[in-house]
Amino acid sequence: MGRVKLSVNVDHVATVREARKTNEPDPVAAAFLVELAGADGITIHLREDRRHISDRDLRLLRQTVKLELNLEMASTVEMVGIALQERPDQVTLVPEKRQEITTEGGLDVEGNFQQIAEVIRTLHRDGVPVSLFIDPDENQIKAAKDVGAHAVELHTGEYANAKGAARAAQLARVTRGAQLADQLHLLPRVGHGLTYQNVRDLVAIPEVREASIGHSIVSRAVLVGMEQAVREMIRLLER
Ligand code: PXP
Repeated sequence: MGRVKLSVNVDHVATVREARKTNEPDPVAAAFLVELAGADGITIHLREDRRHISDRDLRLLRQTVKLELNLEMASTVEMVGIALQERPDQVTLVPEKRQEITTEGGLDVEGNFQQIAEVIRTLHRDGVPVSLFIDPDENQIKAAKDVGAHAVELHTGEYANAKGAARAAQLARVTRGAQLADQLHLLPRVGHGLTYQNVRDLVAIPEVREASIGHSIVSRAVLVGMEQAVREMIRLLER
């Protein structure tokens, strides 16, 4: 049955560096260890305010990483220009607000249809596939198909935060979302708030193909090292 593919988000390695505005720890060095541990991809979010990942990180990661490089970004003119220049293996479009601690909700694809369509056309013309980070809702998934995305990353933050019966309801919501995406030939990915404790229920959804996980892996890596942290997560992603 294989396993769910893992893209490790190394943003928070850069967060620690930026806490002192120095040059360590380096997310590029972290990416080498992620690769050695057997993960499938590296994800970074180049934010408008450059609060963690920098243009330099993206450039060096593009030159050095052999895994699939997934660039999360807002759909702005500046970011599209950077993506066309650096050519990540995939762009994930995310909503972005300056004051947020992390990405809070999924993209409103329905409400920003023309603008997202234009960004996808521009990136696809240059051969850069585009995934959309959306809430696991039927309307958004159908809109992602209509707008021309090749994949969707279903926002699992509400699942991760819910408890008890609410958690079961959120899991059912993600399950329905992954099934619909798969039927529409959109590659079903999941991400946000996933941990060593809550990821197994998502692995049990056969349609889920990839997971993007950052904070939990980097947190464990601080204590046990990046390679071990990634290997432990990969084991949990086995079907
Ligand atoms: N996917 C997207 C689109 C994100 O914005 C983030 C957070 O940067 C993640 C996945 C990773 O979330 P976490 O750090 O909670 O694992």
